[in-house]
Amino acid sequence: MGVLQGKHIVLGISGSIAAYKAASLTRLLVKAGAEVQIVITPAGKEFITPITLSALSSRPVISEFFSGRDGTWNSHVDIGLWADAMVIAPATAATIGKMAHGVADNMLITTYLSMKAPVFVAPAMDLDMAAHPSTLDNLELLAQRGNYIIESQSGELASHLVGKGRMEEPEVIVSILEDYFTESLDFEGRRVLITAGPTHEAIDPVRFIGNHSSGRMGIALADEFARRGAEVSLVLGPSSLKPSERVELISVTTAEEMLAACQERIGTAHLAIFAAAVADYRPRYSSATKIKREGEDCLELELVQNPDIAATLGAAKEPWQYFMGFALESDAGVEEAKRKMQRKHLDAIVLNSLQDAGAGFAHPTNKVTLFDREGAIEAYELKTKEAVAHDIADFVAKRLDA
Ligand code: PMT
Repeated sequence: MGVLQGKHIVLGISGSIAAYKAASLTRLLVKAGAEVQIVITPAGKEFITPITLSALSSRPVISEFFSGRDGTWNSHVDIGLWADAMVIAPATAATIGKMAHGVADNMLITTYLSMKAPVFVAPAMDLDMAAHPSTLDNLELLAQRGNYIIESQSGELASHLVGKGRMEEPEVIVSILEDYFTESLDFEGRRVLITAGPTHEAIDPVRFIGNHSSGRMGIALADEFARRGAEVSLVLGPSSLKPSERVELISVTTAEEMLAACQERIGTAHLAIFAAAVADYRPRYSSATKIKREGEDCLELELVQNPDIAATLGAAKEPWQYFMGFALESDAGVEEAKRKMQRKHLDAIVLNSLQDAGAGFAHPTNKVTLFDREGAIEAYELKTKEAVAHDIADFVAKRLDA
């Protein structure tokens, strides 16, 4: 019996040419033993008929707030409580925008807003729409709120243009759901502490020493472990990004604040992951007023070393705790990464290199190699940081249970 057996899946369909794929998605889900309730937007019905979908799902398709004229009310709240997961496939730019901003003008959006279960969003649109800043911002917002974005793929689009925007294939969407239900709670009962983002070390009230970390890698890790049942605390330096609401967020500015927040929580953490790009130095003195440049040809700053958070906590690590660091290297860096793992008393380390295009700071993607003290090495291709977080969680899961 597969993991989708008996699962209640709400399939939301919006108005895209990719709606035809919703038919095979429904068929595959039903074949895997799931009960599928389809909710379709008015525009969705222009692309695929409710009769096809209700035949495949063996349930009436819901589109309107009321069924016919008999006053029967379709309760989006009940559907939200019934579901084990909601999949919105295809999700058009309009639907994604409405989801992000709560524009509840159709049954799909009201159902989404009432949803208690995890939501998977499979965008489908033309390449210009997919690349538009408003679409990207809306998807970012949905991801921050804990929705799972199933990235669209590159290929020929309905416009005959070639680019990113094709809805992911139904088989892949089904396997993502299967993975979700398989692993869903493998970190239940574990407490996880994660550091992420940069730290800012004040020079004066307007200037600081910092770096390019966006916090995205650590946030992806926090969301991944929380999704898999862990109680996650994320100590995050200055970042415009946020984790999902399942994560306890502790916002800090400086390395010293980051260390203090970690020290408060490390005692009960089964797992700690140090993904932050901590500033190694801070100005010895921070000016209380803005430093003026008039009459000064040069400015000398005296820098003092910041605490090494991973090394400080690593030195006091208990045998039942598992600590993982990151190593950001500007060259191949394998030996340096391993040295850092030893020096900071870590059980494992994630190497990412600035030499790899698309890896490291700020990119939505990363390319990592994982090492542990037992000599295991796992190298991965360039992937989204969410997918990297998934690989890292799998790597840790095997070792925590060993
Ligand atoms: O935030 P993003 O834009 O998504 O980018 C992700 C990232 C590139 C920041 C992340 O993937 C990463 O590599 N984080 C570690 C960056 C770093 O500072 O590496 P490092 O090699 O200098 O440090 C080694 C380890 O010691 C790291 O686990 C680091 O968190 C920790 N450290 C370093 C210095 C310090 N004072 N305290 C620490 O805890």
